[in-house]
Amino acid sequence: SASLPQGYQLRALRRTDFNSGFLDCLRVLTTVGDISEEKFQKQYDNMVAREDYYIIVIEDTSREKNSVVATGALIVEHKFIHSLGKVGHIEDIAVSKDQQGKKLGLRLIQALDFVAEKIGCYKSILDCSDANEGFYVKCGFRRAGLQMAHYY
Ligand code: ACO
Repeated sequence: SASLPQGYQLRALRRTDFNSGFLDCLRVLTTVGDISEEKFQKQYDNMVAREDYYIIVIEDTSREKNSVVATGALIVEHKFIHSLGKVGHIEDIAVSKDQQGKKLGLRLIQALDFVAEKIGCYKSILDCSDANEGFYVKCGFRRAGLQMAHYY
């Protein structure tokens, strides 16, 4: 498995990550909106209480500000089928623009995959654009099915 570049560290998201660069990282992916620190912490507390959210970040420890440069999440779904099986949902994978191509994305997926397998998920799934298919193929995923969406 790939290792992180010198000085980079993979860790769980913390309640104190409001100003760490985490939200800027997500802005690479989509609109984040204007979130207050209080609301960030409330959302964090809700997610941690659920125990089925694994949100990880990669930090460039040589940076004093905005040290979080990549993030990804695993959400565990509990089922009645497959003998009370569990499915991992990989969501919100984002590597800041100037840090792409350093295998940080691959390391995120490997870490989330490791957790999913370890806690007994029988599969992990994700949705992505055609443009990102090659990345996920390199991470060991293969095209399966078709996504449908109903936006509100
Ligand atoms: N198409 C084909 N291959 C790719 C792509 C791509 N779009 N992106 C990376 N790769 C390849 C790399 O060349 C590398 O191949 P190699 O091992 O042969 O050298 C391998 O995949 C691993 O690449 P990484 O360096 O780990 O990729 P990176 O750190 O740049 O992360 C990511 C890829 C997450 C897509 C990043 O570019 C990004 O954040 N993009 C913007 C946000 C985004 O689209 N996120 C994914 C949304 S889908 C979801 O969240 C479930």
